[in-house]
Amino acid sequence: MKGLILAGGHGTRLRPITHTSNKHLIPLANKPMLYYAIETLRNAGIKDIGIIVGHTPQRIQEIKDAIGDGSKFGVSVTYIEQDAPRGLAHAIGVAKEYLTSNNADGKFVVHLGDNIIKGGIKKYVEKFSEPGIDSLILLKSIQNPNRFGVAEIKNGKIVRLVEKPQIPPSDLAMVGVYMLNSSIFDSIEKLKPSARGEYEITEAVQGVIDSGKNVHHEIIDAEWWKDPGDPDGILEANRFLLEELVPFNKGTVEEGSNIVGKVCIEEGAVIKKGSSIRGPVIIGKNCVVGENAYIGPYTAIGDNTIVNNAEIESSVVIGDCKIECKGRIIDSLIGKNVTIISSDKNSPKASKLVVGENSFLSI
Ligand code: TTP
Repeated sequence: MKGLILAGGHGTRLRPITHTSNKHLIPLANKPMLYYAIETLRNAGIKDIGIIVGHTPQRIQEIKDAIGDGSKFGVSVTYIEQDAPRGLAHAIGVAKEYLTSNNADGKFVVHLGDNIIKGGIKKYVEKFSEPGIDSLILLKSIQNPNRFGVAEIKNGKIVRLVEKPQIPPSDLAMVGVYMLNSSIFDSIEKLKPSARGEYEITEAVQGVIDSGKNVHHEIIDAEWWKDPGDPDGILEANRFLLEELVPFNKGTVEEGSNIVGKVCIEEGAVIKKGSSIRGPVIIGKNCVVGENAYIGPYTAIGDNTIVNNAEIESSVVIGDCKIECKGRIIDSLIGKNVTIISSDKNSPKASKLVVGENSFLSI
């Protein structure tokens, strides 16, 4: 069984961050989003993994630099270019040769590069590996399934899948993990672009159902499933992942600093006296949390960042940043190499920001 991670796409909802870098490398709890998908497949026993990487040379190179040949994860990675973001079904179609060659049971698991399921998918992959199952679709009961593919079930079988329905036929959203075999390719070949101009995975799987193949489904019991596609989604996934961390201190914590709750401090980081950190928080390598700095719950501070005389809470700072401003930064997504300082007067009491790479803000 092989794996395929989709890490192409437009990433429009995460502009301006995605103007300069790939959405799948945005860190969640200081770990690039894409690592979670690779680890999920690996932990389910899938070691041959294809990654769909879009077509922009810079974006492809960034992903290759971050993942390499996969050996650091204990997997073997093959990169597959998609000429343009033409939809999830198109991305799978592009990988046909990779997925069908040297694949003994002909089965594969497609994992969206921006999805994270707490607890992973091992038991579902085991079920799918049983003989006679052509496809296994994972569903989760959620309150507002409108922005996902939604399944209609009759007599214990999926009969219909609808993409982003205005009136959902059930509360069962399709999770971004699809277990498939080569029957999907016949269906993909027959697809036409949808109203939004994409080759839809829902229509492709519907084709497999309609052709009478054996399509199973499982309603997952994971405590949570996240697909962080926009800034609020990033902050939410970051919150849930920070909750999972086990605290550690590999840095230097000066006497007279105040650390409360679950806090992870990476190598080379210095937490100065007079500063205050309230977990769950992760502080990256070589960061400095200066005197009078406050880092509040659900914040991830990326490597090489300086926070001085500033307050930040419930935010993601990607890294190489300098934050030295009055007022509190809350619910913010701050790109790489950003400087935020205070203008002399009239600084806001609190700021909610989404700031792209290499920016300078005087607030
Ligand atoms: P989406 O989140 O649906 O789309 P997107 O990443 O282009 O973002 P936006 O809607 O903000 O413009 O994509 C789901 C996942 O699938 C994501 O990890 C990117 C990936 N993908 C591809 O690899 N190829 C594609 O053609 C598309 C549309 C998405």
